[in-house]
Amino acid sequence: MKQSRTASSVDMMLRLVFLLINLLNLAAPGLPLAADEYSKRDFPPGFIFGSGTSAYQVEGAANEDGRAPSIWDTFTHAGNVHDNGDIASDGYHKYKEDVKLMADTGLDAYRFSISWSRLIPNGRGPVNPKGLQYYNSLINELISHGIQPHVTLHHYDLPQALEDEYGGWINQTIVQDFTAYANVCFREFGDRVSYWTTVNEPNAFALLGYDIGIAPPKRCSPPFKNCRKGNSSTEPYMAVHHVLLAHASVARLYRKNYQDKQHGYIGMSIFTYGLLPLTNSTEDAIATQRYNDFLVGWIANPLVYGDYPNIMKKNVGSRLPLFTYLESKQVKGSADFLGVNNYNSGYIKDNPSSLKQELRDWNADTAAEIFLNLDTASANEFPIEPWGLQQVLEYFKKVYGNPPIYVHENGQVTPSSSSLEDAARVKYLQAYIGSMLDAVRNESNTRGYFTWSFLDLFELLGGYEWSYGLYYVDRDDPGLKRYPKLSAHWYSRFLKGRSVRSVNEAFKLEKNLSTLPYGQYFQ
Ligand SMILES: *[C@@H]1O[C@H](CO)[C@@H](O)[C@H](O)[C@H]1NC(C)=O
Ligand SMILES: *[C@@H]1O[C@H](CO)[C@@H](O)[C@H](O)[C@H]1NC(C)=O
Ligand SMILES: *[C@@H]1O[C@H](CO)[C@@H](O)[C@H](O)[C@H]1NC(C)=O
Ligand SMILES: *[C@@H]1O[C@H](CO)[C@@H](O)[C@H](O)[C@H]1NC(C)=O
Ligand SMILES: *[C@@H]1O[C@H](CO)[C@@H](O)[C@H](O)[C@H]1NC(C)=O
Repeated sequence: MKQSRTASSVDMMLRLVFLLINLLNLAAPGLPLAADEYSKRDFPPGFIFGSGTSAYQVEGAANEDGRAPSIWDTFTHAGNVHDNGDIASDGYHKYKEDVKLMADTGLDAYRFSISWSRLIPNGRGPVNPKGLQYYNSLINELISHGIQPHVTLHHYDLPQALEDEYGGWINQTIVQDFTAYANVCFREFGDRVSYWTTVNEPNAFALLGYDIGIAPPKRCSPPFKNCRKGNSSTEPYMAVHHVLLAHASVARLYRKNYQDKQHGYIGMSIFTYGLLPLTNSTEDAIATQRYNDFLVGWIANPLVYGDYPNIMKKNVGSRLPLFTYLESKQVKGSADFLGVNNYNSGYIKDNPSSLKQELRDWNADTAAEIFLNLDTASANEFPIEPWGLQQVLEYFKKVYGNPPIYVHENGQVTPSSSSLEDAARVKYLQAYIGSMLDAVRNESNTRGYFTWSFLDLFELLGGYEWSYGLYYVDRDDPGLKRYPKLSAHWYSRFLKGRSVRSVNEAFKLEKNLSTLPYGQYFQ
């Protein structure tokens, strides 16, 4: 989930209010500054740096070679957004060219997802040989260029057939179908893939798709939002519950049948915010912890401790599904690593009155309000608050016993129409990688980092108007030619072991861009 400044965005989801710059300046003092100048050698040996995409967002070829629709195809074609992923960045046809770019850039690893409905068009049953061939070719291409594949099995794109048949993630039947799909992936690709993420940010998936219904399967209910079907009070909790059971089932399968031979790892990624209390009041401090329990603990507590946080059980009551004793045992410890998706930071205000509502959704259940600081830098970019990522990594260390972490998504948004000289992205990446280094130096068990995204693609909440890519894709060119942005040069320089400079230096750098062709900077 990425926020953009368009009306479609997560602004709506969390009912944000923008804060004034001076208020934020009050709230942030005392936080450490990110490492200023560093190189890849400052990270521990074996720490990997990569970049990511997802199937629906990059592949295109939506109706080719036997692929069937996912819930995202249905959603975009119903006119919910004015773009779609039919062509996307045409990664399906251009994967060789893209892997070459990755190798030239110097990526250690590439994070991508498998389209379930390309591999198994009906969600279960026969495997599509063309789908199998595509992912085998992509994986082989990566391996032959020395790039580690990190594969996600579900990145927002459930096969439409399963949504139609039994309601997808809100029906426990999904557990067996997801496990059978994972089994095909382990069997066919597991000899070359060691890092498997079952489901990408299920917390955000559930809130977008089942609470406010601005993403597929577009389920929600009044008074929260209006959808044709759904129940905002119950379904987000059901969807996540089944995701956790499906994850545990897949992890069990892997450990029983594959891990001995394939020596890989199974994890799940979680959407996070850096969070601070809005004021110094005790109420806001407690509300901040509560918000983290609802956002992160919803996923991480079951995976690490075998159950939902107590405050969730208390506030959600009978709407929160319970784990049986056996399920709890199976979910606990079922992740070998956790993925962290982090873009922004927010400020939390206690809001106890929301618990008095007769009908409540996740947002009301948190009894807190979040204020995302999206307005301070520029209307078109995320503000640069690197402490947020460092704080999240410290939080996992402290609250969850320092599990292995991969930062799966982190990156800067810019309008697609902006220039190739994306200094805002360079500044952002420089600052956030520096803050991750600070966390690593303070013994966070973080093992790798992926920028979102490798190239411009179909943004789930921003279409083609907003981009996160290191490479620009020229959508006016029928060949969808790729061009490196300044950030691609910057990241490549870093990946190749050169030292990169402080945020302030990057600001100066930006000023120099108008006078110097950026290529000269990154020789
Ligand atoms: C779940 O799906 C099955 C069919 O696979 C159906 O029989 C059952 O009624 C569904 N359960 C719910 C709660 O909708
Ligand atoms: C949603 O579920 C809750 C709890 O079961 C129920 O009270 C409420 O009426 C349902 N809402 C809708 C729109 O069906
Ligand atoms: C928080 O407390 C500190 C010191 O106790 C004070 O300087 C600061 O102004 C307070 N901030 C807010 C937002 O109240
Ligand atoms: C570094 O780690 C220690 C121990 O885990 C913790 O108490 C401290 O707050 C951390 N420092 C920062 C800057 O987060
Ligand atoms: C920017 O350009 C000026 C003038 O050419 C030069 O003095 C300065 O060192 C440059 N800044 C950086 C960061 O290279």
